[in-house]
Amino acid sequence: MSENNTIIKLENITKTYDMGETKLEALKGITYTIKRGEMMAIMGPSGSGKSTLMNIIGCLDKPTKGTYYLEDEKVSTMDKNRLAGIRNRRIGFVFQNFNLLARTSSLENVELPLIYSNVPAKEAREKARQAIKQVGLEGWEEHKTNQLSGGEKQRVAIARALVNSPSLILADEPTGNLDTKTGMDIMEVFKSLHEESGITIILVTHDPEISDYAENIIHIRDGLIEKEDRR
Ligand SMILES: Nc1ncnc2c1ncn2[C@@H]1O[C@H](COP(=O)(O)OP(=O)(O)OP(=O)(O)O)[C@@H](O)[C@H]1O
Ligand SMILES: [Mg+2]
Repeated sequence: MSENNTIIKLENITKTYDMGETKLEALKGITYTIKRGEMMAIMGPSGSGKSTLMNIIGCLDKPTKGTYYLEDEKVSTMDKNRLAGIRNRRIGFVFQNFNLLARTSSLENVELPLIYSNVPAKEAREKARQAIKQVGLEGWEEHKTNQLSGGEKQRVAIARALVNSPSLILADEPTGNLDTKTGMDIMEVFKSLHEESGITIILVTHDPEISDYAENIIHIRDGLIEKEDRR
């Protein structure tokens, strides 16, 4: 099927939203392979299908047609429960608006995925501290997240995405709510994680300065890959 250095294999993925009277074809046949350890960016105009594709890659949604293999497992036909299991164990998510619990400490936010996976409390705490260190936030463990700057919030969110040791991190516009300088700092965090732990990172961005960090960029237009820019 796929070589072992392939992490994601998408074959003719389509996604059609049923709008009652009409149907909206958000993805019209995406075929693409992503290698383990790659840092890649998805670009394209608003409405072109970037988030739809990320939701499928992230096992948050299923394609209408086509086949998706994640680490050699065919996930496109799995039911909701199995998809949730794959998501919890293998994928870390980072969002534009951080999605942290406010009035809750950085440490507790980062621990959460481990608590959900029934990791013993002491081990969860230790792993969360480690992840916080990895994103350069040592000393901020007890701060409540509503007291943090945007850049610090996004670091906490990245630590939370990392804490389960996922194979893959997905980030949809991770710098969209940050100023340019802070956005660059966040990209440096992704870059060092990628270089140090070889984790696969896929991010969506509108900003060419941000996509410059990627080794590989795909441009999506009207639900299709328009071009690929491999560095
Ligand atoms: N749940 C949904 N139901 C119906 N249509 C949807 C749904 N989600 C997305 N769409 C439509 O699918 C198309 C692709 O949307 P998508 O969110 O993937 O675009 P995008 O490239 O992420 O855009 P943006 O840059 O604005 O975030 C759009 O026309 C959108 O309106
Ligand atoms: Mg989007």
